[in-house]
Amino acid sequence: MNEYIVRFSVRQRIEHFSVMILFLALGLTGFAQKFVDSPWAIWTINTIGGIDRVRWLHRAAGVMFTVFAMVHISIALFMVLTRRSRPSMIASRKDFQDAITQLRYYLRISDNPARFDRFDYRQKFEYWGMVLGGMLMIATGFMLLYPVIVTRLLPGEFIPVARVAHSNEGLLAFLIVIIWHIFNAHLSPEVFPFDPSIFTGKVSREYMEKEHPLEYARIMREDEEKREAETDEAP
Ligand code: HEM
Repeated sequence: MNEYIVRFSVRQRIEHFSVMILFLALGLTGFAQKFVDSPWAIWTINTIGGIDRVRWLHRAAGVMFTVFAMVHISIALFMVLTRRSRPSMIASRKDFQDAITQLRYYLRISDNPARFDRFDYRQKFEYWGMVLGGMLMIATGFMLLYPVIVTRLLPGEFIPVARVAHSNEGLLAFLIVIIWHIFNAHLSPEVFPFDPSIFTGKVSREYMEKEHPLEYARIMREDEEKREAETDEAP
C-alpha cells in the first residue's frame, strides 16, 4: 500500500501555482498605484521601469487572471455536470453543523472534532470568497479598462464607483489571502510550519485520516471495491 495519497492533480497544482503568481503580480502592480506616494511604491515603480509599465503589467496580469478564472469555472462545471467529479466545494447543512461541532471542540466543550470530507467548511468559505471576490475584481477591472464602452451602456458615475470597489476589494482580498489563507494552509497547529501538498500533490495517510476522515474512508472503500472486481475478473 502506498504511503501517500494523491490529493491534488497536476492540473490543480499548475492552476494554484499560476493563480498564486498572478495574484502576487496583481497585488504588487495594483497597490503600487493605490499607494503611489509611499516610499515602497515609488521604489517598486522605479524598479519595474515607470508607471506606464506598471499599469501595462497590471492589465496584462488582469487579462490572464480572467482567462484562468473562466477556464477554472468551465472545467469545474463540466466535471460536475458529466459526473466525472463530485461537487466537493458546494456548501451543505453539514458544513454549518461542522462549524458548530468544531467550535465546541476548540472551546473544549466536546472531545470530538468534526469529521470532514474532501474540503472542510473553512476551505469552502475561502474558496467561494475567492470566486465571488475574483468575479467582482474582473468585472470592475474591465470597467476601468474600457470606460468609454461601459459609459455607452451605463451612467458615467459607474466608473468612479468601479474604481473604489476595485481598489478596496483588491486590498480586502489581498489581506484575506495573506492573513487567513496563509494561516489556515501553513501556520495553523495542524499543519505548521508548512503544508507542501498543493505543490507536491501528495499527503500522508495519517493526515488524511485525521483531517479528512470521510474522504479517506471513501478512497479506501473504492480501492477495496476495485481490488475485489479485479479478483473476480481474474481467470
Ligand atoms: C484580483 C486581483 C487584483 C487586485 C488585487 C487588483 C488591485 C488593483 C488596485 C489596488 C488598483 C489601483 C486602484 C487605485 O488606484 O485606487 C487597480 C487598478 C486597476 N486594475 Fe486591478 N486588481 C486585480 C485584478 C484586476 C483585473 C482582473 C483586471 C482586469 C483587467 C484589473 C484591471 C485594473 C485596471 C484597468 C486598473 C486601473 C489602473 C489603470 O488604468 O491602469 N485588475 N487594481
